[in-house]
Amino acid sequence: MNEEQKTAYKKKYTQAKQSGIRFWPHIIYKDLLMAFAIFLLLVGLATFVGVPLEAKADPSDSTYVPRPEWYFLFLFEFLKFIPGQLEWVGTVVIPGIAILALFLLPFYDKASVRHWKKRKVGLSIMGAVVLAMIGLTFRAVATTPEMEETTVASSIQEQVVLGQDLYSVQCVECHGPDGVGGEILGVAGLEGVSVKSISSRDEMYTRSDATFEAIINYGQQDLGMPPYGLAYGGPLSKAEIEAITVFMRYTWDDRVELPPEAVIAGVAPLEEGAIPSYEEQISTIVKRNCISCHRPDKENNNYFMETYQEILTTGDNADKNLIAGDLESYLYLTITGTPILDPVTGDVLIHQMPLTKLMKEEYIKIFEAWILNGMPETAVEAEALSATPEP
Ligand code: HEC
Ligand code: HEC
Repeated sequence: MNEEQKTAYKKKYTQAKQSGIRFWPHIIYKDLLMAFAIFLLLVGLATFVGVPLEAKADPSDSTYVPRPEWYFLFLFEFLKFIPGQLEWVGTVVIPGIAILALFLLPFYDKASVRHWKKRKVGLSIMGAVVLAMIGLTFRAVATTPEMEETTVASSIQEQVVLGQDLYSVQCVECHGPDGVGGEILGVAGLEGVSVKSISSRDEMYTRSDATFEAIINYGQQDLGMPPYGLAYGGPLSKAEIEAITVFMRYTWDDRVELPPEAVIAGVAPLEEGAIPSYEEQISTIVKRNCISCHRPDKENNNYFMETYQEILTTGDNADKNLIAGDLESYLYLTITGTPILDPVTGDVLIHQMPLTKLMKEEYIKIFEAWILNGMPETAVEAEALSATPEP
């Protein structure tokens, strides 16, 4: 500042002082008034408009993409340029320096001129910073992945089908394919425990969907029902548990009617005398009645039934389980309730299957025709067999 400027400034300053407006209390008073008005406005907005909340946090939902509020996105994006161990530099040191620089501004920027044309250095630094912030914000928005649909199935039809599949795998071994329950056999730790029906009218009328979801989520551990929710160490996501509940409700509750387009997938009808195939009939029956136990990590003599190949080739007695044209096949004997005995000791080697209650007679007949005709895989193969005249 040269002398001339100094005197001009002093003159202005004394003038302002004489006009009687003081920082304390005048300016402070105005500031307080304004701050209070804004405070009231915020309280009003919070009370009458509110902030839309996101859904309640769900630790089992791994599809959620967490992101900060939009005005912090630039910092969030900035952090991506900094390697993990140096996170503290990006979160504390650099923003700290920037804030300190602003804070100390009055001490190092003592220029008296205010016109923007004369403040090129300051303006270009600030301009670059603001542009970087805008750029980073846009980049953050552009790189945020699309949040996955939280439901795996959207229509009731899809939910019922998904729920039925999940029920077959996860629940049948204890509750049976129709939820009727009874005595549990072949499940470690629950041998002989009797479970009540979960498909009865009593059950359906007294339990809400939310209750079913909660039971499946946490289990009833004191009674022997394991937890299924991911958050409790189980295998099922929230959407999958919902699907099972939808399946149970639409299949067993006589008060609800399945929308006409949502037909529960059943065993494909078989014409009189036609030959069943794995694809059309067997896979569905096996899924409903057997794979809950016949999959890895279950007690089942290593007999896995999840695919055609597995059914034909796995098992401690793989060579005897399915023999084309032979009703002495172990699989046939067991599903007709004939226990297989140890030839030496006479003990039961393999029980009837399923352990608790035999399948419907019509399903057993389908297995019988399937084995007698050499266990065809596809419908086309089965049809070709039917076309061949008997020798
Ligand atoms: C390892 C065996 C086992 C498996 C597998 C199992 N449960 Fe259970 N579940 C039980 C037992 C035991 C009970 C207690 C039953 C009782 O009190 O009669 C039970 C209770 C229930 C109940 C509550 C009945 C009531 O109203 O109190 C429901 C509903 C249920 N299970 C559904 C399921 C579903 C759905 C699955 C598959 C995701 C499943 N369970 C898998 C053993 C099992
Ligand atoms: C509740 C669980 C459970 C269900 C459901 C079940 N199994 Fe089994 N299965 C077992 C167990 C356990 C064994 C081991 C032998 C035994 O304990 O009798 C076994 C063994 C077998 C074997 C002998 C395998 C071998 O190589 O020794 C056949 C065949 C078989 N099951 C067929 C079926 C068929 C077909 C179904 C469906 C209609 C079925 N099982 C449903 C539990 C089950």
